[in-house]
Amino acid sequence: MRSILICLLLNTATQSIATARPTVRQDSSVTVLSASQISEWTIPAYLASAAYCPGNTIQSWNCGPACGNVSEPNGIVTGGDGDFVQRWFVAQTSDGTTVLSISGTNTSSIESIGIDIDFPLVEVDETFFPDSTGVELHQGFYGAFKRIQGGILAGVVAQARQGDILVVGHSLGAALTQITATYLQKQFPARVVTAKSFAPPRSGNKAWADYVDVTLGSNTGHMINYADDVPHLPPRPWHFQHASGEIWILKDGTTYEACGGRENPVSL
Ligand SMILES: *[C@@H]1O[C@H](CO)[C@@H](O)[C@H](O)[C@H]1NC(C)=O
Ligand SMILES: *[C@@H]1O[C@H](CO)[C@@H](O)[C@H](O)[C@H]1NC(C)=O
Repeated sequence: MRSILICLLLNTATQSIATARPTVRQDSSVTVLSASQISEWTIPAYLASAAYCPGNTIQSWNCGPACGNVSEPNGIVTGGDGDFVQRWFVAQTSDGTTVLSISGTNTSSIESIGIDIDFPLVEVDETFFPDSTGVELHQGFYGAFKRIQGGILAGVVAQARQGDILVVGHSLGAALTQITATYLQKQFPARVVTAKSFAPPRSGNKAWADYVDVTLGSNTGHMINYADDVPHLPPRPWHFQHASGEIWILKDGTTYEACGGRENPVSL
């Protein structure tokens, strides 16, 4: 899973730095990202892939290429078990940003796969998401969020500095990135919370997508490779909807389109 993430996202990101140029298409709702806009996703991709590593290798910042390409952060707090509880870590980068990274599905774990197929939509609790009438989340993802929420909140509070917060994750960890970033923005309204997620499945209903858009505004983005099935699940006829902020990687592997609105058909 980690190598897939690195291959699909990082290598293409690196290649495209040389080739991409900023342009705006006839359809103004689709914008081709510039090389510098794409490069903003490189460190988040390494951080997202590091979340799959066991906590002891994160503590020592020795988890292979993912750690090797990122300066060792301070104040590392880890949690999760890679089975029923997603692995995650919170730390602080040298510029004072608090980083949270959440792992995706462990495809070797029946318990982990079970989280993904627990499809029903359930109402969220106002203690996590105030003023959220009508907001519903995928039951499996919501349960996964509730299992890590307390540890993550403590990990964020434990950081020495109170700077902006960046949340990253891949696949199931990407769905949890959007959910947890929205939660943290409500918890810490004076801080800027940014979500950068890779290949998220849909995590909630239209009211949820509205809630994310209102809470995070332009600070949420999700990158999707054209060939990846996960972001098309669960299907829209089941009343799921992505929030705004889609970046679509075209078949050429070097063109990254920022798609206006939600579920923008132009990008399909
Ligand atoms: C950085 O990541 C690349 C893969 O994207 C890997 O080949 C390389 O070994 C990594 N560098 C370090 C120092 O780990
Ligand atoms: C994935 O689950 C298997 C089976 O429970 C476990 O042995 C392994 O350590 C887990 N992998 C990760 C990366 O958490």
